[in-house]
Amino acid sequence: MRATTIFAALTAAVTALAQLPDSPRFDLSTPSYDLWRSKKTASNTVQQSFTFDQVNRRLFIVNRKPGSELESGDLTISELDFSGNLLGSMDLIACGHGVNIAAESVGSDTYIWSETDAAASGYGKALWRFKFEDGKTLDSADAEPERIIPFDRFERGTATIDAIHEKFVLRYQYEGAQNIAVFELDDAKAYNFSNALVDWPLPQIKDDLGGLSNVNQGYTVYGRYVYLLTGESYDASGGVLNSEVTALDLNTGDVVQGPLLTKAGSTLEFREPEGLAVYQTADGEARLFLGFSSGSAGDRRSNLFYKNVLI
Ligand SMILES: *[C@@H]1O[C@H](CO)[C@@H](O)[C@H](O)[C@H]1NC(C)=O
Repeated sequence: MRATTIFAALTAAVTALAQLPDSPRFDLSTPSYDLWRSKKTASNTVQQSFTFDQVNRRLFIVNRKPGSELESGDLTISELDFSGNLLGSMDLIACGHGVNIAAESVGSDTYIWSETDAAASGYGKALWRFKFEDGKTLDSADAEPERIIPFDRFERGTATIDAIHEKFVLRYQYEGAQNIAVFELDDAKAYNFSNALVDWPLPQIKDDLGGLSNVNQGYTVYGRYVYLLTGESYDASGGVLNSEVTALDLNTGDVVQGPLLTKAGSTLEFREPEGLAVYQTADGEARLFLGFSSGSAGDRRSNLFYKNVLI
């Protein structure tokens, strides 16, 4: 079967599970605004992804640890304020690629869900959850914190939290395909992954949906919709801007918008798309943030843009 046929068959099969309430979605055709450009994190490597602690209004960015090999799995998580000032950082040794991290608010603390137990590929084979503490190092050679392997099909993967709708989201690899699964946040906090609200294989943006690139660079969920960011750096694409955003209905698997080209930060040097996350401001404005890495090797910088129109 062709990939598109498999995708159609699988999404049809899981439609019956559909359990996410209706919600507005971000209009991907609207402009992106700057939060910031060219900010330094605690690491000078390419930013991999970022996330928000919605309740405590904190922002975390994950990079490969400075000086570590590409497949080492060593990561640095930086906390920045919303003006881009570095507030603190943690190092994770032999944990993962930094594909995504989730930030869970626990009182005034932030707990991070990240990859751990990096395979030879550099990607984590399990998840773990820990309190963010500036200056601390966690090593996957240690027994603690507890490993979380949500279910048998989870070969590797990462998490994000939709704090507004109180959902926990896994994107995980199973038999070569990326899958998306959504849980009640309270179930996930109890490490109970027996009741997925939705769980289905994601399409490849180029091969299945006619987009420009299959390279996954970020995902996030807001209510009923999952958003995907794909594309490559100018170095990898031969100077072609191929970053796209796509919105899919979690209940049906249907594409609702995209793949749509995003030119956010088009003039940035290097410009690798790196991370998607949702944050709602204190004034109640929901924002879909798109991350890009810029600059030269050994001095990579963080750039964050956002879209803010819900339809
Ligand atoms: C896990 O969550 C489901 C659904 O919320 C619930 O029915 C089940 O009792 C929970 N299992 C445990 C061990 O708490």
